[in-house]
Amino acid sequence: MTEPTLYERDLAAIAGIEKLRFFPLELASGKGSILTTPDGRELIDLSATWTACGLGHGHPAVIEAITRAIQSPPGAGGLSAVHPDSVGLAEDLLALVPGTGERRVYLGHAGSDANDVAIRACIIHSGRKRVLAFEHGYHGGVGIAMGVSGVHVEGGSAAAAEGTIFAPYPDPLRPHADNGGDEVGYCLAQVRAALEGDDVACVIVEPILSDGGLIVPPPGFLSRLMDLAREFGVPLICDEVKVGLGRPGTLHAFEDDGIVPDIVTFGKTLGGGLPISAAVGPARILDVATGSALLTMAGNPISTAAARAVLATLVDEGLADAARERGEQLKGALTAIERGEGRFGDKVADRIGDVRGRGLAIAVDLVSDKAALTRDEDLARKVVYRAWQLGAVVFYVGGNVLEITPPLVITEEQVDAAVTILEQAISDAVDGLVSDEEVAPYSGW
Ligand SMILES: Cc1ncc(COP(=O)(O)O)c(C=O)c1O
Repeated sequence: MTEPTLYERDLAAIAGIEKLRFFPLELASGKGSILTTPDGRELIDLSATWTACGLGHGHPAVIEAITRAIQSPPGAGGLSAVHPDSVGLAEDLLALVPGTGERRVYLGHAGSDANDVAIRACIIHSGRKRVLAFEHGYHGGVGIAMGVSGVHVEGGSAAAAEGTIFAPYPDPLRPHADNGGDEVGYCLAQVRAALEGDDVACVIVEPILSDGGLIVPPPGFLSRLMDLAREFGVPLICDEVKVGLGRPGTLHAFEDDGIVPDIVTFGKTLGGGLPISAAVGPARILDVATGSALLTMAGNPISTAAARAVLATLVDEGLADAARERGEQLKGALTAIERGEGRFGDKVADRIGDVRGRGLAIAVDLVSDKAALTRDEDLARKVVYRAWQLGAVVFYVGGNVLEITPPLVITEEQVDAAVTILEQAISDAVDGLVSDEEVAPYSGW
């Protein structure tokens, strides 16, 4: 009898409820932007574990911080004690996140609990019950954060949190048919109508819709949303968990629209590969109801040490600028392919409806009909599978959109190599090199 593969052992041992699989990805190690399989095959990482490895794998600054912190850790969390790295991380975040007045930092484990707690604090503070979120948004995989995530509610994996109102998110490529020629105005009119209802505790928004299809809203959307929230005295939570911290080519994605959100949430990149999250906001909201968001290991000394190293490295190594430069290279090369200037001409160009994004959050929107922009979900499944066979890890979002979010430390040569693989993968998938049977076991989203 042959030994089961690592992937087969995972199937037999780890719960399906926590899986989102696109191909049988087995990994043994990682360095920088390269992942290595147990049989020694190197893959360019174009996901960074959904952006959680923003600094790449095994960054020396993170290794040094963790090694220091694990030697003689002052306990395991900040629930009933204080220690230098948890307090220091909160102070670092207060210095890096714009805001006025007295503010506090919530430290948690994952983007999900940061959003969940931020929302709950707004509900407790205001005494109001409703949350205004956006269609196709993603804010978490548990609790209220899951129940205000359009991706989950629309897909049936969660019921809407009680009283949630979902407003449309402006989509420059596929605007809402009944928008009367003003996509942002159309979406914000529905936000206004909801806020007039008087029972909204907070608005939560992604500055770039990521899991819902990597949609970059038109300039002015966030600032007009912020104005509306201010007009009605409702706090705006900006969810920077996925695309924040250098990835958009600025430290924060909301900077592009010049806003200062009331509450900003962080996760993923913040931990340099360790679980940690944060919410930064007004003391009057985050200090309410002491003891109503308790996680034993929140403020964990190892995770907070890693996060402090991540923030320092982002600034010291100029990684937001690096993301902008590599992002322009990536987007430029993919846009040329979309225009038909690639190795496979119109064969590949005809299947790309759009290349968009900001910094190192780039989308390739795969279509079956370029003029009609018909989403090609089958092609997306086969392209990511083929890319894995050819040597790159990339996933899709929104059904048909390749989401390219490599570590911010990806090199110029690695970007070139990645583009070559992606172009080949689209061509091969169009040519039928990936069968329905091969992708059938992987349900993706
Ligand atoms: C925008 C956004 N917010 C929150 C989360 C939840 O983060 P986590 O899965 O770390 O709990 C995600 C995860 O994909 C996300 O994309």
